[in-house]
Amino acid sequence: MSTATKVALVTGGIGGIGTAICRRLSQDGFRVVANHHPTENEAALAWKNDQSAEGYDIDTIAADVSSFEDCARMAAEIKNSHGPVLVLVNCAGITRDKTFKKMEAAHWRAVIEVNLSSVFNVTRNVWEDMLEANFGRVINIASVNGQRGQFGQANYAAAKAGMHGVTMTLAQEGAAKGITVNTVSPGYVETPMTLAMRDDVREAIVAGVPMRRMGRPEEIASIIAFLASADNGYITGANIPINGGLFMH
Ligand code: CAA
Repeated sequence: MSTATKVALVTGGIGGIGTAICRRLSQDGFRVVANHHPTENEAALAWKNDQSAEGYDIDTIAADVSSFEDCARMAAEIKNSHGPVLVLVNCAGITRDKTFKKMEAAHWRAVIEVNLSSVFNVTRNVWEDMLEANFGRVINIASVNGQRGQFGQANYAAAKAGMHGVTMTLAQEGAAKGITVNTVSPGYVETPMTLAMRDDVREAIVAGVPMRRMGRPEEIASIIAFLASADNGYITGANIPINGGLFMH
C-alpha cells in the first residue's frame, strides 16, 4: 500500500505540536485529518485556510477525544469520506498545573480524561481496521514529565506515564499484525502550552535544559514522520525522548 492511500489522523491536530505533525505527514504523502475539539470550529476553519494558503491540503474534524462515542463517530466519518485510519497520532492534550495540595478532583479528572482515556477512545475505534489491513502505526505523544515527574503536574505526569503503558501493551498485541505502537516523549517545546506557563517558571526550566533552549515543533514532527513511515517496521513499544538532554535514562 503506498503512503498516498493511507489516512493519518492527528488528534489535537491544530495545536502547537499537532500542526507541525500534520504538515509533515501531509508533505510525506499521507491523507491527513486534523482533529480538534468541537468548541474550536472557528479556529479550525481559520487553521485549515492558513494551511491551504501554504499549499497543505489537510482536512479537519471535530470530536471530543474524552468521549468514546464521539470518537466512534469521528472514526466512522473519516472512514466514510477518506478510508480507514491506518496512522494515528494521539497528540491531544491539556494541562491543569497545580501543586498537589491545591489540585482538585476536577483538575485531575480533566487531564486524565483528555490525555489518557483519549488514547483508548480514539485508538479502540481504529484498531480493528489496522488489524484488518495488516498495517498500522500508532504514535502516542507523551512527555518528559511522564518519565521523570514534574512539580505541579501530578495529573499530567500520571496521564503521560500511563500512555506509555498502553503503548507497550498494544505494541505486543499488534506486533504480529504489522502494527507498530510507539511513544514519543517531547521535552519543553515552543507551543502555546509552554507559553501559558509563568515567564519566571519557564525561564528557570529552560535554564536547566542542557541545550539551553526549547524544542521546535518540527523537531518533534520529524521523528513522528519516521515512525509513521513504512521505513520503520521494527521499532515498536519504544519511548523515544526528544528533550534537549533534560532527562536521560
Ligand atoms: N521544585 C521544588 N520546589 C519548587 C519547584 C520545583 N520544581 N517549583 C516551585 N517550587 C517551590 C517554589 O520555590 C515555592 O516555594 P516557597 O513557597 O517556599 O516560595 C513553592 O514551590 C510554590 O511555587 P510557585 O510559586 O511556582 O507556586 P504557584 O502555586 O504559584 O504555581 C505551578 C504552581 C502552577 C505548578 C507552577 O509552579 C508551575 O507552573 N510549575 C511548572 C509546571 C510545569 O512544568 N508545567 C509544564 C507545562 S508545559 C507541558 O506540560 C508540556 C510538556 O509536556 C513539557
